[in-house]
Amino acid sequence: MMRSLAPAYCFILFLHLLSFASISSETEAEALLKWKASFLSQTNQLKDWRANTSPCNWTGILCNAAGSVTNISLANTTIQGTLHELSFISFSNLTYLNLTLNKLFGAIPPQISSLSKLIYLDLSENQFTGRIPPEIGLLTNLRVLYLYLNRLSGIIPREIGNLKSLLRLESGENNLIGSIPTTLGDLKNLTFLLLFRNNLSGTIPKEIGNLKSLVKVELGENQLNGSIPTSFGNLSNLEYLILRDNQLSGSIPQEIGNLMKLVKLGLDTNQFVGYLPQNICQGGLLTNFSVNTNYLIGTIPKSLKTCTSLFRLHLNGNRFTGNISDLFGVYPDLKFIDVSHNAFSGEVSKNWGQSPNLVTLRMAGNNLTGSIPSEIGNATQLHELDFSSNGLVGTIPKELGRLTSLLKLKLDDNQLSGRVPIELGSLTDLENLDLSKNKFNDSIPSFVGDFLKLNYLNLSNNEFSQAIPFQLGKLTQLSQLDLSHNTLEDMIPSELSGMESLENLNISHNNLSGIIPISFKDMLGLTYVDVSYNDLEGALPNNKAFQDANQEALAGNKGLCGNVRFLKPCNKQSSKKDLRLVALVTFPLIGAVAVLSIFLFAILLKRKQKHPHVEESNMDEIFCSVLPLNGKTMHEEIINATEDFDSMYCIGKGGHGNVYRASLSSANTVAVKKFHLLRNEDKNFQKEFLNELRALTEMRHRNIVKLFGFCSHPRHSFLVYEYLERGSLATMLSKDDEAKELEWSKRLNIIRGVAHALCYMHHDCLPPIVHRDISSKNILLNSEYEACVSDFGTAKFLNPDSANWTALAGTYGYIAPELAYTMEVNEKCDVYSFGVVTLEIIMGRHPGDLLLPLPSGSSSAFVLPAHQMHIADVFDQRISAPTDEVAGKVLSVMKIAFSCLNSSPECRPTMKQVSQQLETQKLHLSKPLYLITCGELLTLNGFTT
Ligand SMILES: *[C@@H]1O[C@H](CO)[C@@H](O)[C@H](O)[C@H]1NC(C)=O
Ligand SMILES: *[C@@H]1O[C@H](CO)[C@@H](O)[C@H](O)[C@H]1NC(C)=O
Ligand SMILES: *[C@@H]1O[C@H](CO)[C@@H](O)[C@H](O)[C@H]1NC(C)=O
Ligand SMILES: *[C@@H]1O[C@H](CO)[C@@H](O)[C@H](O)[C@H]1NC(C)=O
Ligand SMILES: *[C@@H]1O[C@H](CO)[C@@H](O)[C@H](O)[C@H]1NC(C)=O
Repeated sequence: MMRSLAPAYCFILFLHLLSFASISSETEAEALLKWKASFLSQTNQLKDWRANTSPCNWTGILCNAAGSVTNISLANTTIQGTLHELSFISFSNLTYLNLTLNKLFGAIPPQISSLSKLIYLDLSENQFTGRIPPEIGLLTNLRVLYLYLNRLSGIIPREIGNLKSLLRLESGENNLIGSIPTTLGDLKNLTFLLLFRNNLSGTIPKEIGNLKSLVKVELGENQLNGSIPTSFGNLSNLEYLILRDNQLSGSIPQEIGNLMKLVKLGLDTNQFVGYLPQNICQGGLLTNFSVNTNYLIGTIPKSLKTCTSLFRLHLNGNRFTGNISDLFGVYPDLKFIDVSHNAFSGEVSKNWGQSPNLVTLRMAGNNLTGSIPSEIGNATQLHELDFSSNGLVGTIPKELGRLTSLLKLKLDDNQLSGRVPIELGSLTDLENLDLSKNKFNDSIPSFVGDFLKLNYLNLSNNEFSQAIPFQLGKLTQLSQLDLSHNTLEDMIPSELSGMESLENLNISHNNLSGIIPISFKDMLGLTYVDVSYNDLEGALPNNKAFQDANQEALAGNKGLCGNVRFLKPCNKQSSKKDLRLVALVTFPLIGAVAVLSIFLFAILLKRKQKHPHVEESNMDEIFCSVLPLNGKTMHEEIINATEDFDSMYCIGKGGHGNVYRASLSSANTVAVKKFHLLRNEDKNFQKEFLNELRALTEMRHRNIVKLFGFCSHPRHSFLVYEYLERGSLATMLSKDDEAKELEWSKRLNIIRGVAHALCYMHHDCLPPIVHRDISSKNILLNSEYEACVSDFGTAKFLNPDSANWTALAGTYGYIAPELAYTMEVNEKCDVYSFGVVTLEIIMGRHPGDLLLPLPSGSSSAFVLPAHQMHIADVFDQRISAPTDEVAGKVLSVMKIAFSCLNSSPECRPTMKQVSQQLETQKLHLSKPLYLITCGELLTLNGFTT
């Protein structure tokens, strides 16, 4: 030992002589000021370090009675510089040097060894480079040596073994190489040996097992090999033993079980083989136990089953076996357990429900059987539940709906079946949901659309049927969606383009039909798509992911086209195409269009007399049939009047198209609804356009917006309506000054108008027409404040002979609750929306939170606390309270609205009943309006009819 140190001594003595020779007269104050002067930037905290003052009063400096510096304590003082200008030799009494948390760089000078009285040396959390100088071995009084979190390289000098007083050696998180010197076995008093996160190699010296005082040994994240010395079983004070992420092999010594004080044992990510030590939790203090990612075999020792102190348990990625039903106990403090990827068998124990603090439960990739115990629903702190890749059967227990903190739910790759229970709708914090590779059936629950934080959704390889719920379009955080290998049908909802973060979309191997919505062009993040093996047709959306998709991703469809090598081009020749569009528009609707044509023609003739400059249409290029004009000029005139649909003229925006105001030369102002889609191939567009055309040509009612005509052209397809001066009800109610115009009699009149329009559609049209999107946005007002129902793009003709199943349409906040569970459409969904609009008109705002689905049969639509509210407080406060006369009317309208909001469609009145009641019913107040509560209105107390 001495021999190896001798050359270093000589070297240092030589240096000492040199420094004495040159700066022998340097005082401690001068040394400190010279060092400070070398800093790259001035640090304010050392302002009081000034010449001709005593350093003993300086920041960070302490002196002994004789006035000599003993402590330099400059932790976290923003020092940027090196130690090269610090004359260590000047500090013969220094016992404490703490420079942690600065920006010191360069090497640790060997001269540091001249601080012969040093007891504490803390250079941690700086940017020191170079090696640990072997001369440090001369600081024989050192008790604490902290060098962690620097960029030190080279080996750990064996001279550190000379620091016989050392209690703590912490040099983790550097770039140290070489092996751990056996001389560390001489540090008899050592309590902390932390060398983790370096590049140390070689074996762990068995001599370390002699250091009986050791409390913490952390050697993880190095390249250590060999086995754990059995001598470690003698470290009776050891609390932490972390050897994780090395290349250690052999079996874990049974002797580890002798460590009675062990709290944390981290042996994961090595190459350990064999069995776990039998007495691993003998001391009863073990909180963290990780042996994951090794080659361990056998079963789980009893000692671990009864180890109630456990907090985190990582057993994943080994070859453990046994019947998992009874291998584990009840752990009151357990937060995390991962037993994934082993060969456990048996059933999931219901005991897991008794670990109230459990946050993570992972059992993926075993051979588990049986069903998921409903008791898991008691572990309400769970953030992550992973049972994937097992042989679980049965349905998802509805009790899992109680796990409202869940962020990740993985049940994929099992044999689970049945419906996804509605109770899971409460898991609204989910970020990751994987139910793929099971046998789930029925429709994809629309409540998944409320999991707004969802980032990953995989429902592939199941038996999900019916349409993709359009509500999924609300998932703006979703980056990956896989619905492949199901039996989904109907069109792809264009709402899905609302998933603005989506990168990866897989809807392959389903029965989806129609066109791919062109709105997908807006999904700018989309990178990979797979729509193969469906019945899709029409043009690919103008989106990079689709345009760049490979052949396999588009294969197996009915008729996709586009400018992609392996697809047929979409036919774009204009005039022929136009005729084709006309045909498409016309043929399915011969009846409707015939009616329209006669209607148009009749009015046209009449108007022709008033407007002598009418031109005939050129049917070859553009099909345009608009009243009072028609033909190509009409088309051009509308383009001119709106400056090619400049946003300046836009008066409304809808899902299917924007509405523009066009003032024509004939002094007529019309509203023009231009459909977003201009591509002839787009089925969606055709559907909306035709729907609206058909619905409107069949209807004539003063409360339904009038259609003047339509134009179809390769670039613009639009409908021309009567222009209603006051715009939509929603806009009016949203503006205070306009809302003030709407006093009670006008509001009641609007409600009556909407009711009459709906009554006409439901009861006087054959087949009946359901609007499906009644909202305040789609109710327009003319100059007389007369209501006109508009926007028939989603209207549905109820065919009495067939089931009316369809994809959901409508506006959030107005959609009848039953449509969340069924896709069956009848007129009662309009009745519900009418109820919402009615309350909105009375309240001046959407009833929002006041609405809550109550059990069917209940007469109330209001949330219970609202029962206590005074009716007068619910009324729109921007207009003066109604007179008693009018109030009776308003209250009866409210009562009717409540009955329309009944959560069970059968209990809602028909629009015919509503219309009649509106005309006849009036409540008489038996006490002043301001005393009546909502609850009383519902129970009719205080009223006579
Ligand atoms: C150095 O100072 C820091 C910050 O005050 C402190 O946390 C650390 O324990 C000190 N080091 C020593 C060896 O006392
Ligand atoms: C443990 O310590 C005892 C007593 O000091 C000693 O006899 C024994 O050899 C040590 N065991 C190992 C494996 O080093
Ligand atoms: C596992 O243990 C449970 C309870 O002891 C028992 O009912 C079940 O049959 C066992 N399963 C297997 C696969 O051995
Ligand atoms: C899973 O368990 C079943 C029944 O106990 C057995 O037949 C099968 O081989 C096991 N599979 C694996 C991968 O262990
Ligand atoms: C989509 O799913 C199919 C079938 O599961 C798979 O083969 C394909 O790789 C997936 N495509 C993408 C883009 O993930």
